[in-house]
Amino acid sequence: MSAKRSNKTNKVEVTHIVLPSHANAVGTMFGGQLMSWVDLAAAIAASRHSHRIAVTASMDQLDFIHPIRVGDYVVLKSSVNFTGRTSMEVGVRAEVENPLTGERVYAASAYLTFVAIDELGKPTQVPQFIPENPEEERRNKAAQLRRQQRIELKKQQQP
Ligand SMILES: CC(C)(COP(=O)(O)OP(=O)(O)OC[C@H]1O[C@@H](n2cnc3c(N)ncnc32)[C@H](O)[C@@H]1OP(=O)(O)O)[C@@H](O)C(=O)NCCC(=O)NCCS
Repeated sequence: MSAKRSNKTNKVEVTHIVLPSHANAVGTMFGGQLMSWVDLAAAIAASRHSHRIAVTASMDQLDFIHPIRVGDYVVLKSSVNFTGRTSMEVGVRAEVENPLTGERVYAASAYLTFVAIDELGKPTQVPQFIPENPEEERRNKAAQLRRQQRIELKKQQQP
């Protein structure tokens, strides 16, 4: 018998403070540092959903919409949108928060694909993601389209 797992467990919110070591010469945050935080927030959501080690297979386009400065808070929200057999699409939204006013601004977002692996490092089946509300339904449908597009692109890129 398999217990029903609530989708609440695969939603993650992480807050970081931007330190001088995260910044470039003009005092804004390194893009690579944000990518690392995005990857980590997504990995936790994927692992929570699958209860497996989940490795990053790919990250779709990441646009940096708003500059992030030393001293700002970065709030990352991630959730599993879709599951295949062994893979999971995770969406991550990054917001920058002014620590003095609490105002939050959308800074970046990305979609990542994680693959759950077994003890031998081989892809292994994950529990199916079943949308539980209209918002999850919408994200799930959009994720299915993106998965199709990734598969098509991969086919085109093969020699
Ligand atoms: C990700 C990885 C486990 C996939 O292994 P593989 O042998 O290619 O797996 P398969 O071809 O059987 O595909 C397994 C699943 O991964 C998905 N997948 C594989 N490569 C993918 C990619 N580049 N993007 C999105 N999904 C991908 C497949 O669609 C499939 O999904 P499904 O089971 O839900 O249908 C393997 O490529 C790997 O170990 N990569 C390195 C991961 C890593 O180290 N990440 C950290 C980077 S620093």
